[in-house]
Amino acid sequence: AAEARQFKYVILGGGVAAGYAAREFAKQGVNPGELAIISKEPVAPYERPALSKGYLFPQNAARLPGFHTCVGSGGERLLPEWYSEKGIELILSTEIVKADLASKTLTSATGATFTYEILLIATGSSVIKLTDFGVQGAESNNILYLRDIADADKLVAAMQAKKDGKAVIVGGGYIGLELSAALKINNFDVTMVYPEPWCMPRLFTSGIAHFYEGYYANKGIKIVKGTVAVGFDADANGDVTAAKLKDGRVLEADIVIVGVGGRPLTALFKGQVADEKGGLKTDAFFETSVPGVYAIGDVATFPMKLYNEQRRVEHVDHARKSAEQAVRVIKAKESGESVAEYDYLPYFYSRSFDVAWQFYGDNVGDDVLFGDNDPASAKPKFGSYWVKDGKVVGVFLEGGSAEENQAIARVARAQPAVADVEALKQEGLEFAAKV
Ligand code: FDA
Ligand code: NAD
Repeated sequence: AAEARQFKYVILGGGVAAGYAAREFAKQGVNPGELAIISKEPVAPYERPALSKGYLFPQNAARLPGFHTCVGSGGERLLPEWYSEKGIELILSTEIVKADLASKTLTSATGATFTYEILLIATGSSVIKLTDFGVQGAESNNILYLRDIADADKLVAAMQAKKDGKAVIVGGGYIGLELSAALKINNFDVTMVYPEPWCMPRLFTSGIAHFYEGYYANKGIKIVKGTVAVGFDADANGDVTAAKLKDGRVLEADIVIVGVGGRPLTALFKGQVADEKGGLKTDAFFETSVPGVYAIGDVATFPMKLYNEQRRVEHVDHARKSAEQAVRVIKAKESGESVAEYDYLPYFYSRSFDVAWQFYGDNVGDDVLFGDNDPASAKPKFGSYWVKDGKVVGVFLEGGSAEENQAIARVARAQPAVADVEALKQEGLEFAAKV
């Protein structure tokens, strides 16, 4: 008969949020056998951002166990042994295919069942694939995506098999920018293709994008904007050889990497919990519409107190903090205590080559570019403020020191008033330093 197991707490998903939730459970006190993490991945929770950065370095590449959670925020590295010492069960290589919240039962692909009293949904996102919208030839070999360790290992193997070859990167978002750099560092001839007039339009203004596009061009990366890949050619082995673009151009390709966005993995809960804006709707304590069922990380649409709006965030800082909040709430309820509402300040970052940026707050209203955004600068340092209703609500900074990054975070939180936008532009970082 298939296995049937019972736990007090189950975390479904074994990514970033799961790792930080486990650490918080241990901190708050959990008895051996009470907590299980169920993950379809074969490894203990790790810091996913490493996969598009250190994992792809040609030398001294990051490998597990080096980047298990919680090293990404300067915390303790939770090795598989840590979980066994705490009596936390890591149920790996186990995909849940059915969730019945009424009977509090999860069922795996092999028919094993797991029951819980409290469930934390931490299933994260899956990648949007070109095959999802029927792009011709998109199932060819070496058309790759990046979400988990298995994807990253495939990519590393492809880079070895197609040494010094040509790479086409489809998408101008986070994956597009980070992977173009990674392939270039691995000596590939790299071309990026994206439909928008400039890269990362969800966050970057044209002034910000001007810097990164120029910087990438100076590194030898070719950029094709305003079009999309509509088909692929392959050789007799089924290996991709070219990407065909909507504007008629054909780009030779030994490897294609696609980063056209993610989708939160919520299908298991459809019709069982309230959803909103593509995610599972929660309160300020990450509890869903079903008592005892929490949603954390990429899948949660939660009240963002600062902006008085329900939002979903697909970044690691929120995955960590939402996990900690939910576990504190769960434990506080047991002891009759209370926890303050989640009051999140959005924080996103990225790095590639020798550049690194941070962003805090909200990118709405009028943008005010400051500093030196010349892509040829020896030490580029520039940023942007976003001003709405006479207040600074968001700040972006490239090349900031730790202190300067703390200063822009303070600004985004405090939302200081600005009387004179031209003066703000002239003052640049000085303005942030005074807040
Ligand atoms: P996460 O995706 O980490 O974990 C979900 C887990 O659930 C996975 O282990 C998955 O296999 C498992 N799962 C899903 N469905 C399941 C099922 N049915 N049964 C069993 N297990 C299941 N952010 C940032 O701020 N800075 C950065 O630099 C980066 N860099 C970055 C690089 C790459 C390559 C990616 C893919 C993403 C980033 N991010 C990022 C985003 C960040 O990593 C992301 O927001 C968090 O990992 C979200 O954490 P979660 O725990 O919600 O999902
Ligand atoms: P994204 O949403 O950042 O970017 C998607 C990009 O796809 C768009 O900017 C657009 O240029 C492009 N696009 C859309 N449709 C297209 C099409 N048909 N053809 C070509 N291009 C098209 O998503 P992503 O870069 O795929 O990242 C996936 C997930 O991983 C996101 O949740 C992201 O937040 C996360 N991630 C974050 C970081 C970071 O925070 N530093 C790094 C990597 C990944």
